Amino acid sequence: MIKLIAAIDSHRGIANNQGIPWHLPEDSTYFRHQIKNATVIMGRHVYEELTHPFIDAKNYVLSHQSLPLRQGFSLVHDLETFIREHADETVWVLGGAQLYEQTLAYADELYVTQIEKDFSCTKFFPKFKDSFTLMNESPQREQNKLLFSFQIWRKK
Ligand SMILES: NC(=O)c1ccc[n+]([C@@H]2O[C@H](COP(=O)([O-])OP(=O)(O)OC[C@H]3O[C@@H](n4cnc5c(N)ncnc54)[C@H](OP(=O)(O)O)[C@@H]3O)[C@@H](O)[C@H]2O)c1
Repeated sequence: MIKLIAAIDSHRGIANNQGIPWHLPEDSTYFRHQIKNATVIMGRHVYEELTHPFIDAKNYVLSHQSLPLRQGFSLVHDLETFIREHADETVWVLGGAQLYEQTLAYADELYVTQIEKDFSCTKFFPKFKDSFTLMNESPQREQNKLLFSFQIWRKK
């Protein structure tokens, strides 16, 4: 099963040129709880932003390059082969924009943190509402003056 997990703003924005423009510790806690003990894959740009791998997760990094990755990360060159080889387990796609775009078609579920504000982002989560149904939504929360909710969408 493929699950994408992302926090998006009111225009599906996920980041600007400096990275993620909001600070939501509650969302970070939710994110870490979801991916605990799981297999995760991220794009090389996301990898560059991390200081260490997610503990208790199998951390894969997608890149065209033969990079020497830091300890705790494994390199993946071919996304389709990776998805085929991990078909029997749950794989979480952690982004960024390129990874979301290329994996949406394979996704069974989307874990979306919906933030009710426009951050003028330059990188976006792909359009998904035509092909996914909202299965679950938390009550709206507020942190750092931001309103947000945790949503789970399932493929139609
Ligand atoms: N709001 C959120 O929830 C959220 C979540 C995650 C990330 N983000 C943000 O998203 C931004 C990064 O997104 P991004 O789109 O720039 O980068 P990305 O998706 O993290 O990584 C892109 C890189 O992945 C590799 N790649 C992509 N497709 C590939 C393929 N088919 N085969 C092999 N390698 C492939 C390439 O690496 P090489 O160049 O090495 O070949 C490419 O340059 C960051 O600012 C991050 O903060 C936000």
